[in-house]
Amino acid sequence: MSRLAIALLAAGQSTRMRSRRSKLLHPLAGRPLLLYPLRLAEALRPNILVVVLGHAAEEVRTLLPSGCPFVLQEPQLGTGHAVQQAQPLLEGHCDELLVLYGDTPLLRPETLEGMRRHHEHQGAAVTLLSAILPDPSGYGRVLRDPEGQVCAILEEADTSPEQRAIREVASGIFLFRAPWLWKHLPLLSRSPKGEYYLTELVALAVGEGERVATYPAADPEEVLGVNDRVQLAQAERVLRRRIARRWMLDGVTIVDPESTYIDDTVEIGQDTVICPNTHLLGATRIGEGCEIGPNSILVDTVVGNGCRVFASVLEEAVLEDEVRIGPFGHLRKGAHLARGVRMGNFGEVKNAYLGPGVKMGHFSYIGDAEIGAETNIGAGTITCNFDTKGRKNRTVIGKRAYIGSDTMLVAPVEVGDGAVTGAGSVVTRSIPPRAVAYGVPARVRRTVDEDPPTEDAPQEGASIPERPEGLPSEPK
Ligand code: UD1
Ligand code: MG
Repeated sequence: MSRLAIALLAAGQSTRMRSRRSKLLHPLAGRPLLLYPLRLAEALRPNILVVVLGHAAEEVRTLLPSGCPFVLQEPQLGTGHAVQQAQPLLEGHCDELLVLYGDTPLLRPETLEGMRRHHEHQGAAVTLLSAILPDPSGYGRVLRDPEGQVCAILEEADTSPEQRAIREVASGIFLFRAPWLWKHLPLLSRSPKGEYYLTELVALAVGEGERVATYPAADPEEVLGVNDRVQLAQAERVLRRRIARRWMLDGVTIVDPESTYIDDTVEIGQDTVICPNTHLLGATRIGEGCEIGPNSILVDTVVGNGCRVFASVLEEAVLEDEVRIGPFGHLRKGAHLARGVRMGNFGEVKNAYLGPGVKMGHFSYIGDAEIGAETNIGAGTITCNFDTKGRKNRTVIGKRAYIGSDTMLVAPVEVGDGAVTGAGSVVTRSIPPRAVAYGVPARVRRTVDEDPPTEDAPQEGASIPERPEGLPSEPK
């Protein structure tokens, strides 16, 4: 096969986006817009790929793979001018040049492979990817002569009202026979707007009697160009639908794809069920056999196998296998829930490790903490981690401890293995293993092996002394 080069145009000003940033950096299903055409270009395995940078070049450049050749277009005088800047790097390295636009994220490699075959089969100097759109506004229109042969591409600003009604549009994606292109690219004229249009090459080729072919995109939505935020939302919708379909075909149940938002960056295991109104974002990875949602948001979160996340928000958290959380749980950065943790309603965990089997049923905040296996966190427990000096202090709780309802743990503080705090305790000093402490401030009153005192017993402590063996395992 002939040697393919690709020029990816990413220098434009994004005026219609009305943004301080280049439109190519705006996120689309979790990735910057430009990454889609970049990925497409790489999938076609070209001999060489050159990216044209200009507006916001420094920022856009950060998206390129390392070592990817680029040229600067300064000033930005149109799509034809952009390809002119890439000519010195490309000439001599290819037999055909594919031009991709950075704002066209929905193209599929299969479409471009079909276009390449068509180009070769037709022996064309220029092949353009076209589409018939119900609403062609904003696109260059394909002009044909009475015999149906393409004669030119007209930019919308240059069309008459009759021409504006033409629904066949140019996608901006072109394949050129390289030697022909290098000869004719310098001949482009300056438009009244002061730009050099790549699309003018069609009329130039036709004028010389060269063959110009069109290749219609099988699915017109593929040619969508993102110029403003309305088109950004349209592209987002198409991508999300595609992503959901891919996961469903891969063995994930998505109860309602229309109300499910899965970033392109997310991974999901087999037999997991995603319930409606769920957002899986960023670097989120979900294992097999989970049930996520309804009404859940997971951002950059890793979930093991067999977990249940119900109406909760999880950010930068890690869940090992068989964890249950919700409704109304909130995990923040650095929350790590080990195997079998149960977290009920209105719990918040930040920068904390909850060991295997920890139970935290209701209304608690655990921050900057480490909780040992099978410890029970009573309703309303708070780690008071933030002191008046603005420092974050740690709370360490051992294994099989029993933290009574409404305990305030004033960090830094430690609670030993099997220790007990009574309801309403304010713990300001560390509690040794198997000690029973209660009161405000909490003081050690006995150990779990002793008989409970007759007076002043903590409400929740009454049934506790047999711990670790005899404690209730399930919180109410
Ligand atoms: C372009 C086409 C139009 C086509 C439409 C499809 C031209 C003249 N017009 O219009 O026929 O229907 O795409 O989406 O080509 N760029 C540069 N340097 C520049 C100008 C643009 O690199 O000086 C890049 C932009 O970053 C963008 C791409 O080229 O990725 C297309 O530019 P844009 O301004 O979006 O062209 P459209 O008006 O959409
Ligand atoms: Mg565009």
